[in-house]
Amino acid sequence: CGIVGILGSHEVAPLILESLKRLEYRGYDSAGIATIHDGTLDRRRAVGKLVNLSDLLVHDPLPGKAGIGHTRWATHGAPAVRNAHPHRSGRVSVVHNGIIENFRELRQELAAIGLIQESDTDTETVAILANHLLDGGATPEQAVEQTLARLNGAYALLFLFEGEEDLMIAARKGSPLAIGHGDGEMFVGSDAIALAPLTSRITYLEEGDWAVVTRHGAQIKDSAGRLANRPAKTIQIDSAQVDKAGHRHFMAKEIAEQPSRLTSALDHYLTEDGTIRLPAPGIDFTDVDRLTLVACGTASYACLVAKYWFEQLAGLPVDVDVASEFRYREPPIPPRTVALFVSQSGETADTLAALRYCRDKAQSIVSVVNVSESSIARESDLALPILAGPEIGVASTKAFSCQLLVLAVLAVEAARQRGKLDDNALADRIAALRALPGLVNHSLGTSDETGRIAAQLAEARDILFLGRGRMYPLALEGALKLKEISYIHAEAYASGELKHGPIALVDKSVPVIVMAPHDELFDKTVSNMQEVMARGGQVLLITDREGARVAGHGVWETLVLPDVAPLWAPILYAVPAQLLAYHTAIAKGTDVDQPRNLAKSVTVE
Ligand code: G6P
Repeated sequence: CGIVGILGSHEVAPLILESLKRLEYRGYDSAGIATIHDGTLDRRRAVGKLVNLSDLLVHDPLPGKAGIGHTRWATHGAPAVRNAHPHRSGRVSVVHNGIIENFRELRQELAAIGLIQESDTDTETVAILANHLLDGGATPEQAVEQTLARLNGAYALLFLFEGEEDLMIAARKGSPLAIGHGDGEMFVGSDAIALAPLTSRITYLEEGDWAVVTRHGAQIKDSAGRLANRPAKTIQIDSAQVDKAGHRHFMAKEIAEQPSRLTSALDHYLTEDGTIRLPAPGIDFTDVDRLTLVACGTASYACLVAKYWFEQLAGLPVDVDVASEFRYREPPIPPRTVALFVSQSGETADTLAALRYCRDKAQSIVSVVNVSESSIARESDLALPILAGPEIGVASTKAFSCQLLVLAVLAVEAARQRGKLDDNALADRIAALRALPGLVNHSLGTSDETGRIAAQLAEARDILFLGRGRMYPLALEGALKLKEISYIHAEAYASGELKHGPIALVDKSVPVIVMAPHDELFDKTVSNMQEVMARGGQVLLITDREGARVAGHGVWETLVLPDVAPLWAPILYAVPAQLLAYHTAIAKGTDVDQPRNLAKSVTVE
């Protein structure tokens, strides 16, 4: 969920709405704003996307120079107006990100003294508790301090109080919050991106901090109640680039941007003379015996591809895990391990928690992130930017290919340091990386053909994706993209695993998408493809010219991509996976950029 608060010098509702637009990537189930006007609290809330809230505000404006706002990704309680934030009890209004784990006990305790909730949320419990304390004579500051002492879980909270036009109280535990400093104005946001157009002077709250904010500044206390001196930083966030630049959807724009984004990343990590340049302190791979790669969603598939690269190129063993599993498994972490976290947003709650687990075990922490001011970047020993630029479409596209590129560069660097590549081989690998933007550009030319095929895929109920070796994670990513935005059930299997069960699903109504460049595993994959065709399966073969020549007969459709160094094929083959999902979603008429039930960045576990 996204949070924003403003103590301003003008009407704040329109400004809060603007900031919420920048936070919509965190959820769009419902949204709301509360303000104080002439000492009185009032609020407007609407289900669905922000545009519904802004329509409501047109008919029913919300005056006031102090306010808080929220955009929600539902956890407790279905998306409904009564569950939308801000929640209110008497003199307290609150917005919240995260989960209050002990809210049921608290709710019962409050119900026992006659304080009954209207919503199904854990957040309203917080408002009721704080208001109850106010009624008992506490000041707002005391009420918040005593409320926080009762809460378990991970959260970011922002309070506003009736009768207090110059006060917001913010608290952070497990879920980030940033305070923005203006000129006689103050801001609070769940990240610096929300505040970018308002101010560039930002103070990040640390774990357990809470802050009393007035127009004169913020007084921050740590979890022990001591005054904390947190520095204000000036940050640069590119607030441009957040338009569709003539494309019908952000996703289409972001797919099309890949050649230029990949070039930026290459220029960042490769010098003119073809050597690799990592930011300080770099990584000494000769001192590393094992890598642990952790991420969620699409980023976790980038990690799976990277496992093949690090193991094959650098002889470095790699464990890959999704963050939500990793963090609770209590994995033993041997010495000489580097923990590497991949995240577009840098705010994904599970990935951040996994990072902190490794940090507590004194691991060295590397992250591969798109948002360099993010929590994951800030808490890493070395943060490697992927330079994809803002990614707005919920389905990740350019961030995936740029994550892959940075991981590829790292794998080559690891191989070099560990003496696995001589100068010629190194130069070959790098030249092949340099060729990628051109090849990706070329493969964007298959968009029309993909559209034609997708119109038929849109009729399917289930779709299978197959790949082997480095292409197996690509099959997983292809299936995920399709599920996310077209709502067609899709699954991916390692080609060799098909005969151990999933082949039972194959009949002529199930399209099977095979991702197979003509590489060392091609013949094996083709055998698996024949097994599918023998059972009536309709195969779409995504391959290169040679692959199509050798195996293109009798398949339902073939998509031919340019030749690419087999090692880096996953970066190129990401493009047809994205285009197929995109065009299938268009054919089905779904909401491509903001598909149902999803959020761009999941800041709850
Ligand atoms: C959400 C998004 C996915 C993304 C995942 C991880 O589920 O919808 O597209 O892959 O989070 O996000 P991150 O920002 O950590 O890469």
